[in-house]
Amino acid sequence: MRAVVSASFDPITQKELEWIVSCRRMKGCQTLYVHMPEEGILSYSLRRKLLKRALAPYRHIHVTEKVSPEDTVMYLPDGSGDGEAVRSGIVRLAARGTRNMLWHETEFLELCVQSRCTEQRASHSVSVAKTAEYFAARYGLDRERMRIAGYLHDITKKQSNEENLRVMNFWYPEFAAENYKVWHSFTAEVFLRQEMCCYDRIIRSAVRHHTLGDGMSDHDRILYIADKIEPTRPYPIDTEWKIAERSLKEAAEFIFEETRQFIDTEEKNV
Ligand SMILES: [Fe+2]
Ligand SMILES: [Fe+2]
Repeated sequence: MRAVVSASFDPITQKELEWIVSCRRMKGCQTLYVHMPEEGILSYSLRRKLLKRALAPYRHIHVTEKVSPEDTVMYLPDGSGDGEAVRSGIVRLAARGTRNMLWHETEFLELCVQSRCTEQRASHSVSVAKTAEYFAARYGLDRERMRIAGYLHDITKKQSNEENLRVMNFWYPEFAAENYKVWHSFTAEVFLRQEMCCYDRIIRSAVRHHTLGDGMSDHDRILYIADKIEPTRPYPIDTEWKIAERSLKEAAEFIFEETRQFIDTEEKNV
């Protein structure tokens, strides 16, 4: 007779991992098996990959495909293990060992963006990710990092101004006086670091600089440019795209100047 624990692990969280470990202790069994049904919000293959990674340090706990009538099965009820919060980007609640993996997965990034952004902002983010990846490939830069930065650059845009200001005052007080429209690039950087456990400097720097266009690296420039010229933008982008094909620096400067003129005109019209 085997002792089996079963849950959807959608994805596996730290609470669930601790529950598995405590079940083995509670049952006093030599070997414990973990079962995961096929149904879930994240794909079975991704959930399984994360589950195996989380359980890797535990020699006496194994993943099993099937449960037989002779097994003693313990079920963890759905919704009791922070899975929903993790799926919305609170990666710090995911099981130890899986956090870094999560924000590299396109499937996870898409889900995150859908849950934190409006529908329109979510498709814009997907398009920025593709555009940023295209330019990274064109200039021999890091495609994966640029894709991730594209997905996540507007992740806090839907947060209230009050919440964004609270974060600004704590982490970036020197920029809190900037127009509220640029706050989200700073608060997204904080969100990546604090909630998503993303400590990658290239990604965070690109996200942090995507509104003001004050980043100095080519990765910063790519995200700044991709954000303004991704194909779903409802204005002409041909000229900017052509310049970006020949020089990132020129394109970033061109777009910076265009944006400055646009803001000046808007202010005059107020
Ligand atoms: Fe933005
Ligand atoms: Fe954007």
